[in-house]
Amino acid sequence: MKFKKEIPKRLIITSLLTILIPIILIVTITFFYVRDSSIKIYESNLVEIAYMLEPTIKEKLFSDDEIKIDEYIKSLKSEKEFRLTIIKPDGSVIADSILDPTSMENHKSREEIIEALNGQIGKSIRYSSSTEEDMLYISLPVYDSFNNIISIIRVSLSLKELNSLINRTILNIVLISLIGLSIGLILSFYYSRYFLSNINEIKNFLKELSKKNYGKKIIIKKQDEFGEIAQYLNVLSSELEENIKSYKKEQEEINTILSSIEEGVLVINSDGLITLCNQVFENIIKEIDIINKHYWEVVKNIEIVDFIKNILKTKETQKKEIYIKNKNYLIKGFYLKTINEFVFTFFDTSSIKKIEEVKRDFVRDASHELKTPLTAIKGFVETLEEEIDEKKYIEIIKRNVDRMINIINDLITLSKLEDKDVVLEISEFDFIEMINNVIKIFSNKIKEKNLKIKIDTDNYNTKMKGDPYKLEQVFINLIDNAIKYTEKGEININFYLKEGNAIIEIIDTGIGIPEEYLDRIFERFYVVNKSRSRELGGTGLGLSIVKHIIALHNGKIEVKSEVGKGSKFIITIPQ
Ligand SMILES: Nc1ncnc2c1ncn2[C@@H]1O[C@H](COP(=O)(O)OP(=O)(O)OP(=O)(O)O)[C@@H](O)[C@H]1O
Ligand SMILES: [Mg+2]
Repeated sequence: MKFKKEIPKRLIITSLLTILIPIILIVTITFFYVRDSSIKIYESNLVEIAYMLEPTIKEKLFSDDEIKIDEYIKSLKSEKEFRLTIIKPDGSVIADSILDPTSMENHKSREEIIEALNGQIGKSIRYSSSTEEDMLYISLPVYDSFNNIISIIRVSLSLKELNSLINRTILNIVLISLIGLSIGLILSFYYSRYFLSNINEIKNFLKELSKKNYGKKIIIKKQDEFGEIAQYLNVLSSELEENIKSYKKEQEEINTILSSIEEGVLVINSDGLITLCNQVFENIIKEIDIINKHYWEVVKNIEIVDFIKNILKTKETQKKEIYIKNKNYLIKGFYLKTINEFVFTFFDTSSIKKIEEVKRDFVRDASHELKTPLTAIKGFVETLEEEIDEKKYIEIIKRNVDRMINIINDLITLSKLEDKDVVLEISEFDFIEMINNVIKIFSNKIKEKNLKIKIDTDNYNTKMKGDPYKLEQVFINLIDNAIKYTEKGEININFYLKEGNAIIEIIDTGIGIPEEYLDRIFERFYVVNKSRSRELGGTGLGLSIVKHIIALHNGKIEVKSEVGKGSKFIITIPQ
């Protein structure tokens, strides 16, 4: 941007005007005031003179002839500065202190004479052709005893003196003013130079700041307002420098942290503009230089765009698994209220998925391989049992073989459930019918422990939808646990339909589960008390099978428990 250098011009014009305008005013006022008041004084003096002369002239008008009167008037002139003229009411001049009255023209039309003939004291200022100068005239009517105007006394005075006095005064004022003006101009020049040099100093300093040259100092030594401004600007500049430094440092730290993170990171503001991201994210979307661009301009994957859009709208934390260019990513998005921005992380789960797949394949293959020899061993043990008398050892072998077969069966079940291609065979069945069949399996154990089983439902309709074979596995495992971990008391089974869900509760009065283990009991092979489980024949696979089957039904399982009082498992299956 170009700026005009206007300040010096304006400063000079302003100071000139501030000096010139008062001078012109003073000169004008002086001129009129001095002239008017001086003329007033002259007027009253002339009137006084006219009154003083009036009785003598009146007397002479009656006693002397015109020539004598003229002589008398001329004799007065040498003593006085003024001019005296005696005029008849018809305008003809009788006597004059300077000129020969016969050579003078008729005065009837003169302003001061007209006024005097009207009975007033006539006044007039005009240029006299006879004396060739500005004159002040005063006329006084002279009356006889019948109150008739018999003559007019006119006293006049030259204004030459007054005019030259006024001219001298004005000249003096102008001279003094010119001296004042010059001093004023010099001072204003000096101050405007000082003012401008400081402004330039500040201007250059700010120019440097605008070019991002922080930390510069401005030097103004005087302890005036400019000095104060300079001091504040210096503080501002050094604070700015500090802030920029720490901002840059923070930025570097953030960048270092971001580039060391293995996950893709993306930060978006509420307008959808990308404010931060790391290289990993740029590699995922195969774009570069994406900062300050809208996310929809650079992210081409529709699933990601929809995910971002949804979080920007709802401001809720969400997770989603997405498959991008042969890779699996777990995307997490959340809203950071403090900065009003949205953070997204892209975690590459491909390798974990691969490991899980290998693990699953191994378990499945190993279980299948182990099952065949174990079944053979079982068969031979049973043959041996018939032939050998010492049954004690054979019993132990049989029990352990059965246990191993159970474990292998559970592992095979789990592998099948984890298979990508697993399908549910959904049909409608009666829950009460199914649970009664399950309880029958455990009738011996229930009797042995003398446990009470109560089934309760507030619905007439006890039908539900799901894969009956797989859900039976769920209830077998849960009822098995309830019986296994309850020494006395009862087992309650509740069923009800609520808000489009079938809800099943299995409540026992057994040993309970300490709170810290509640999350872990659904993990494979996890048992709370190892020696006790071994005694009871548990391997910790039951609940993982349960969890898998319920997840396949898009349902959920929750557990509440109190040590020594019992446990409650709540299953929700959408219908
Ligand atoms: N009703 C319950 N009361 C107390 N503890 C329980 C109950 N149900 C499960 N548990 C605890 O959770 C653990 C995991 O249960 P899970 O059914 O997976 O294994 P398990 O019963 O030990 O063996 P199995 O594979 O034969 O079922 C159990 O070992 C037990 O410690
Ligand atoms: Mg179990």
